[in-house]
Amino acid sequence: MSAWNERREAYERSAVHRAGADLDLVVEWCEPARGVTALDVATGGGHVARRLRERTCTVTSCDAAAGMEPDVVCPAEALPFRDGSFDVVVCRLAAHHFDDPAAAVAEMARVSRRLVVIEDGLHNDERVEEAERLRDATHVRAYTKAEWLAMLFAAGLDVVDTALHPRRHVFEEWLSCTGCEGETADRVRALLAHVTEPGGEAWLDAKLIFKTLKRG
Ligand SMILES: C[S@@+](CC[C@H](N)C(=O)[O-])C[C@H]1O[C@@H](n2cnc3c(N)ncnc32)[C@H](O)[C@@H]1O
Repeated sequence: MSAWNERREAYERSAVHRAGADLDLVVEWCEPARGVTALDVATGGGHVARRLRERTCTVTSCDAAAGMEPDVVCPAEALPFRDGSFDVVVCRLAAHHFDDPAAAVAEMARVSRRLVVIEDGLHNDERVEEAERLRDATHVRAYTKAEWLAMLFAAGLDVVDTALHPRRHVFEEWLSCTGCEGETADRVRALLAHVTEPGGEAWLDAKLIFKTLKRG
């Protein structure tokens, strides 16, 4: 987790994280209202938690890195909360960092009373995976939609809505966010050539969002 402890400011500022139609949708799918209790898992710069608090939810944030200054420091794979502690559990743009995403999804389902909302980058191909890991050693893997559906089903979650949002990573900000430079940055750009927009300023992928309900 030491890499993350240095990154709070970068992730607070990051354009991809702090705003966007995907964040708006995640917040709506959490069905925010006064009295709704929410857990934001792997809160990072705290954008989901902030937006849900603005919508008068009672929010607990958690993250494995103390440097992110969450309310609770814990891994997503072992959430220190009782079964059914929150109306909604949400996890945005973080599961690709988890060592055991299936265990994390099972934990989210366990501590939720009703709703689980998850967003993450959609798996593209192995060249993109290699670039992601070179740029950031904490990237484990992004998953296909089929892999996500299997994890959600196994955790006892029924998918009620799915959305796909395009994402544009401006190289300069995306590389500097993790301190990736020099020859490594050149290699990352080369690996991403097939998904880079004309002109080379940014590369493109997609974010997948699931709204799920606990089964039964
Ligand atoms: C990209 S940031 C999250 C972005 C944030 N959710 C948002 O919407 O802006 C990824 C976060 O995942 C956290 N993280 C990585 N592995 C984790 C794990 N196994 N359990 C909990 N948090 C983890 C990191 O500390 C980091 O804060």
